[in-house]
Amino acid sequence: SRTAAVIPAAGRGVRLGPGAPKALRALNGTPMLVHAVRAMARARAVSLVVVVAPPDGATEVRTLLSGWLLPETLDGVEVVVVPGGDTRQDSVRLGLAALPDDIGTVLVHDAARPLVPVETVDAVAAAVRDGAPAVVPALPVADTVKQVAAAAETGGPEPVVGTPDRSLLRAVQTPQGFARGTLAAAHEQIAREGEGATDDAGMVERLGVPVVVVPGHEEAFKVTRPLDLVLAEAVLARRRI
Ligand code: CTP
Ligand code: MG
Repeated sequence: SRTAAVIPAAGRGVRLGPGAPKALRALNGTPMLVHAVRAMARARAVSLVVVVAPPDGATEVRTLLSGWLLPETLDGVEVVVVPGGDTRQDSVRLGLAALPDDIGTVLVHDAARPLVPVETVDAVAAAVRDGAPAVVPALPVADTVKQVAAAAETGGPEPVVGTPDRSLLRAVQTPQGFARGTLAAAHEQIAREGEGATDDAGMVERLGVPVVVVPGHEEAFKVTRPLDLVLAEAVLARRRI
């Protein structure tokens, strides 16, 4: 069976500040989404990329991508654009619904992680194809992490309730890779229960399916706040040397 990448790109990018939807903003002149699609299309296993556009922006995104991505540069990889939803979870579900029947492995990759190296994508896809139902790339955590008491909304200092052992914590990135049936079942169950999770692997964990970690990469960081744009443009400038 074939491998597809689903790229949720329907977010506004509120934390980045006012402007176009985050995925359409440029890094050194090229839209973030274009970088993300290229990163997925370059992976050995990927033969289809499903881009999940803002709910009212599928036509605009289709036009933008056809201007940037010449078919001959995509090495036979097909790119499809579908409209997304109000939450990342909805957007991923809508992307999964657009997959043809012969897709057996799915990589879910944030458009907001435009600089992920192809080696990381290949490693995630290979681990799924070797039999892991769910694979996440992750890095050790640099900062010590504190757990605080549930928000009291007093506005005062927050009481610390614990310090998890940092050596056992990992900061999770994308692409996250899944056996298609596993991810589809997790999305169906969680939508039915009206619950949410902050990443796709988190949903699969709730089904009781094992999730494994492979090494992530510093350059797979998520562009979230304005400072991340500065870092992303510096990484791109360094690559061109
Ligand atoms: N995403 C999506 N659909 C949504 C919300 C988010 O497809 N309704 C996508 C974003 O486009 C992004 C990825 O999920 O590629 C990770 O989300 P995040 O970094 O939070 O992006 P935004 O939601 O756009 O940013 P913010 O939370 O600051 O508004
Ligand atoms: Mg968000």
